[in-house]
Amino acid sequence: MTRVPVFGARDVEQTVSPARAVEAVRDAFVAHHRGEWQMPSKVYVTNYPAGDFRAMPALGGGHALLKWVNSFPGNPAHGRPTVAGAVLLSNADTGELEAILDAGAVTALRTGAAAVLAADTLGSSVAETASVVGAGVNGLAAIRTFAALGREVLVWDRDAGRASAAAAEVDGRVATSVEEALGADLVVTVTPGHDVLFPDGSLRAGQHVSLMGADGPGKAEIAVAELARTQIFCDDWEQASHGGELAAAVEAGVVTKPQVGLLGAVLAGDAPGRASDDQITSFDSTGLAIQDLAIAIACIADGVPSGLPTVDLG
Ligand SMILES: NC(=O)c1ccc[n+]([C@@H]2O[C@H](COP(=O)([O-])OP(=O)(O)OC[C@H]3O[C@@H](n4cnc5c(N)ncnc54)[C@H](O)[C@@H]3O)[C@@H](O)[C@H]2O)c1
Repeated sequence: MTRVPVFGARDVEQTVSPARAVEAVRDAFVAHHRGEWQMPSKVYVTNYPAGDFRAMPALGGGHALLKWVNSFPGNPAHGRPTVAGAVLLSNADTGELEAILDAGAVTALRTGAAAVLAADTLGSSVAETASVVGAGVNGLAAIRTFAALGREVLVWDRDAGRASAAAAEVDGRVATSVEEALGADLVVTVTPGHDVLFPDGSLRAGQHVSLMGADGPGKAEIAVAELARTQIFCDDWEQASHGGELAAAVEAGVVTKPQVGLLGAVLAGDAPGRASDDQITSFDSTGLAIQDLAIAIACIADGVPSGLPTVDLG
């Protein structure tokens, strides 16, 4: 019988810092770009309007992973998280299950890491101000990650209490208006994607925006024409063009695959990033299983922390 450790949300957060998560996610993007890590397509199982489930597999670094996770936008109104589920981590050589982890915490760490990694990689070299719009579970992770990398964070959420609690946690500041937050040099948006935050003509020269909220059909944080005005990068063309911000732009015929860069290719040094400090860049994230794999591996990299509960399996 194999005793498998179970990482609750706090165990994940205590084991992997936001700064460590950025490095793990960076390495995963590069390994995937080089073909060293595999990621079969994410499978959506939908139960709209309630929400959807995603089955997300990946293999790399000597491990295999499956994340079973949901996105139920109406859940917070009932005191439940938007994103929840479980991650299974296995040994890729023996097939043995190595850990079960809270999917919400793994997701938040890797989402915050990808948002800030993209902003740091694609943002202007003279960028000074950084903001996060949407201070829920995954927005808070982006706020913590900006702070961990030494940036002062401007926070905006339509829920003022949530914005001030998040800002206070990192010694950041609540923006005086949504316009101030959306006008920062580096903007991360992590809202449910019900409202277009960037209408036509709203971005100014030199800005970067990491668009994290629209990770499924029917969601958008930016108008199609505004997205088309930016130099676009994404995490994965297949996922982003089917379920991300890119989906509507591709369907409308205003954006095609050759126009869109890949974050992994830029990080690996195989493709250019931003061309000039005046360019507007965007990063369309739908969230990749390789990011989850990177965080799950980091959770056990230094040995399983003592005191975790275990289950008998296998
Ligand atoms: N790209 C990815 O990898 C990835 C990963 C996880 C979650 N997501 C997506 O991100 C979104 C947010 O997820 P979450 O778990 O953080 O949700 P959440 O419910 O915990 O937080 C959402 C926050 O956005 C705020 N908000 C809503 N509309 C707003 C608006 N117009 N302006 C400012 N604030 C607004 C809410 O008050 C709330 O605090 C969801 O759509 C989710 O599917 C994407």
